Amino acid sequence: MLPTVVMQRAREEFLDWHGTGLSVMELGHRTPEFIGIAEQAEANLREILSIPDNFAVLFLQGGATSQFSMVPLNLTAPGDRVDALYTGLWSGKALKEAGRYCSVSVAASSEHNHFTAIPNTSDWQLSANARYVYFTDNETVHGMEFQQTPKTGEVPLVSDMTSNFLTRPIDFSAYGLIFAGAQKNLGPAGLTLVIVREDLLGNARQDIPRLYDYAFNAKERSMANTPPTFCWYMAGLVLQWIKQEGGIPVMEQRAIARSSKLYQLIDASEFFSNPVTTGSRSRMNIPFLLRDESLNNTFLKEAKSHGLVALAGHRSVGGMRASLYNAMPEAGVDCLAGFMADFERRYG
Ligand SMILES: Cc1ncc(COP(=O)(O)O)c(C=O)c1O
Repeated sequence: MLPTVVMQRAREEFLDWHGTGLSVMELGHRTPEFIGIAEQAEANLREILSIPDNFAVLFLQGGATSQFSMVPLNLTAPGDRVDALYTGLWSGKALKEAGRYCSVSVAASSEHNHFTAIPNTSDWQLSANARYVYFTDNETVHGMEFQQTPKTGEVPLVSDMTSNFLTRPIDFSAYGLIFAGAQKNLGPAGLTLVIVREDLLGNARQDIPRLYDYAFNAKERSMANTPPTFCWYMAGLVLQWIKQEGGIPVMEQRAIARSSKLYQLIDASEFFSNPVTTGSRSRMNIPFLLRDESLNNTFLKEAKSHGLVALAGHRSVGGMRASLYNAMPEAGVDCLAGFMADFERRYG
């Protein structure tokens, strides 16, 4: 979801942005008008997340998936070692891709428990010579989220925060790089955000496309070529909205309130279940199963008639999944919870 007020604002200024007689979609990316939009978005992001000055913020394209290659191509040399935490579908994809460019060591894995619990930190096998430790802060498909920033000593963390970006504070002192596809909490699909510590820039492999080089993008202020201007503008409006709502503390508090409500209902029910252990549960994506799976289609059909959509689980795991991103109002969760309770009464 995107916040309704953001979409209303975009609609209002769609044909004529601030009296220019032009749509944002028609503004050249090097015009003072668009540069203003771009800079304001970055300033708001820096303020909201308290991003330290020694981090560059890049507004790129290619989706979060592009970062599965860009990260190792920029931060490792062939043969270098990186540690990875394998906790679900997205970290699995990322470490497979990274393995094409460097030596990936799985320091801990949730595979044996079918991705229902984040491995205990005491079981992680970290190596002192790893370039970085890679993890997926929120596993969107399996509904698992790290509850604390992993501790890796001197070795910097690299994290895919695609599905929980802007939902809680980030302790930048532990991180070398963070990336996020915009499409969950930041704006429409098409924009990929990278926040990278500046001392890590300038180590990209020589034979990669220049557009894949973080240092080049940082130097060109994310405008080496035409950026996704409309997405950048929309992200700017979302960031303004977050700021007006009270910033990250409010987003975090709402995320906890929304997800707790749904977990409580699921845990109290004999009919619905969530397989993830309590200490690993996501505040963003809540997968759940119906006791009788033959009712899945009925559940989805009836949900849709109540205006509740996008509840089918990811095709790789089945079942259901409620995604509760920042723009989801608590009333949305109440509506889902009411529907689920009623469904259980009728079919349970
Ligand atoms: C955690 C995570 N990483 C990566 C991706 C892939 O993002 P993209 O489609 O932008 O490449 C997704 C998509 O949902 C995701 O949830």
